[in-house]
This record gives sequence, C-alpha cells and structure tokens, in this order.
Amino acid sequence: MKVLVTGAGGFIGRHLTNELREHGHSVIGTDAEPPYTVDGPMLEVHGDMTSELRMRAIMQTVKPEVVIHLAAQVGRVFGEDDRLNTVTRNAVGTMNVAVAATEVGARLFYVSTSEVYGDLGERVATEGDAMRLPHNLYGLSKRWGEEVAQLYMPTAGYQCARLSMPYGTGVAPGRGRAAINNVLWQAATGQRIPIHRGAERSWCWVGDTVAALRLIMERGIIVRNATHADAAVYNVGRDDDARPMVEVAELACKLVGASPGLIDLVDAPNAQTVVKRLSTDKLRGLGWSPTVDLEDGMRSVLAWVRKYGRDGQRIA
Ligand SMILES: NC(=O)c1ccc[n+]([C@@H]2O[C@H](COP(=O)([O-])OP(=O)(O)OC[C@H]3O[C@@H](n4cnc5c(N)ncnc54)[C@H](O)[C@@H]3O)[C@@H](O)[C@H]2O)c1
Repeated sequence: MKVLVTGAGGFIGRHLTNELREHGHSVIGTDAEPPYTVDGPMLEVHGDMTSELRMRAIMQTVKPEVVIHLAAQVGRVFGEDDRLNTVTRNAVGTMNVAVAATEVGARLFYVSTSEVYGDLGERVATEGDAMRLPHNLYGLSKRWGEEVAQLYMPTAGYQCARLSMPYGTGVAPGRGRAAINNVLWQAATGQRIPIHRGAERSWCWVGDTVAALRLIMERGIIVRNATHADAAVYNVGRDDDARPMVEVAELACKLVGASPGLIDLVDAPNAQTVVKRLSTDKLRGLGWSPTVDLEDGMRSVLAWVRKYGRDGQRIA
C-alpha cells in the first residue's frame, strides 16, 4: 500500500518506516524536523501538521492510500512543558491530518496511547471500556485527537492503535524519556536509580510494536462511521510480562555489572499511574504475538545507549 507516515522522524516513526518497507509497502514520511534517517533511501516531505494548508498540500502531493498519524507532542513530562503546544499538536494537528486525508480519499490510522484510559488501577483496559480522566494533558490531548479524528473520519475509513510502553533503540536517555533507557544509562554510569515504589509496567519491544501497527493496517477492522469507532481500536503492548520496575532496574544493574545498591525506592508523585494493565486479545486475534524478551531487548538498548550516550555525552 502507499502509506504516508506523519512523525516519521521520531522513535516509532523510524522503526515503523523500516517495518512497512520490509513488508513491501511504499512509505513516504513527513515530519516537522528533518533531516532524519532510516535504513536506506527515504522519501520525505517536510511539514508542520499544525498548518492546515501545509497538511493539505502534502496530502495532495503524496496521495496516499493510508495515513498513519504518529506526529505528536509526546509524553507526560513534555506535555506539561508547553500546554498550548501540546493541545495544538495533538488535537489541532490531528484535525488537520484527518481533514486533509479525507480530501484525497485516504484512510486515517491514528496512533494513540493507553494514557487515554486514565488510571484504571488494577483493572485491565479493554478497547471500548469506559475511561477515566487522564492524569495529564498528554493523555487528554491524545484522547481529543481520537475524537477529532472520528469527527472528521475519512470516508475511506478510520483505525486507531493505543500503544503502551514501547521501548527500544533510537531514543536518547534524558528527562521525560523512556524509563528503561534512563535506568540503563544510570546503571551504566554509576548514578543513583530512583524507582517508584509499587510501579509495574509491561514493556513492549519496539519491533513488536511496529509489527502490530503493520498488521492492524493490513488486516485490522476499518470503520467508516463514528458510532462504531471503538470497533477499530486496538491496544498494542504486552499483557503477558508485567514487571515491577524495581526488577527492571535490578536487571539493568545485572547487565552492566553494577551494584543493585544504586537503586533508591521513592514514592510516586501524585497523579501518576503506578500500575498499567491492558488486554491485547483483539490484537492477538490478528495473529500478533510478542517476540522479544525483556532481557534481550534491554541488551540491545544498552548497546545503543553505550554507543550514543545521553544528549551527546558518552560513557567513558
Ligand atoms: N513512545 C511512547 O512511549 C509512546 C507510547 C504511547 C503512544 N505513543 C504515540 O506514538 C506516536 C509516536 O511517538 P514517538 O515515541 O515516536 O514520539 P517522538 O517524539 O519520537 O516522535 C514524534 C514525531 O512527531 C514530530 N512532530 C511533532 N510535532 C509535529 C508537527 N507539528 N508537525 C509535524 N511533525 C511533528 C516530531 O518532530 C517527532 O519526529 C505518538 O503519537 C505518541 O502519542 C508513543
């Protein structure tokens, strides 16, 4: 299929571009911040999705069959840094992408987050479940993104994936970044490793995450009526490997040969989800299953973190 990927230069975008191309799809990437690299040649269009005119022009030039919309202001921490920007990118940007996709008869596949469910405590989040108010603007703005994508749903159809805890190579450790990458960096550089007491996560290797996105695009349910929007939603993450974060930190220490004495258990701040559980039965129904063990994935991330360091700062 001819696929336009927005946010193609980001963490998921680069892995997804490679995954789609390896499976014979034609991919054109767009991002506000080029240049970016993937494995091999890349057709790329520069553009800011918060400009409706620019988005429509890109869509008219590319004329994709499917738009996989990843571009966003991502993350709980960065989402609060500039709230107007978060809402503009995640809600207004998505509205522009949906309207522009409709004009060229493309299907819209919106990539959302499990943060939209809000804090369900021990309850398992299933697509179509009642939601709670998210703890942060990022989650809320991604929910607005889902809603505006449904409001302007292209006649060619709509799909949605709610990602949970993807991790992998290609993200530098740092403030607001994936906890696994940070914990590995802290362990490798002998820094203290603060871990929230009681925190538990099910991490999903990014290769498995993008394979799921491809399968949903190829075989998933497509809806053309907002009343049935929930039918087109897929949770993407792991439901079979929940790990206390302290165990992840111990594993990081083991992989780098550091003492687990570096780990400090601290209380989680208010308004932060301690436990996240989601069902992936629907995704598994498409033939998906995870392939990479946490320990193997962490080894790959460690090698990457060792090579690229944190914000240009390398491990001696
Ligand atoms: N990484 C995660 O942990 C995670 C978890 C759940 C959901 N998601 C979702 O997956 C998607 C991709 O996330 P990611 O981790 O690759 O994030 P990322 O920050 O690495 O990539 C986002 C990309 O969007 C681009 N972008 C931002 N604003 C733009 C604009 N106005 N116009 C054009 N491009 C713009 C950025 O330049 C960046 O390359 C997001 O929609 C996010 O909500 C990610």
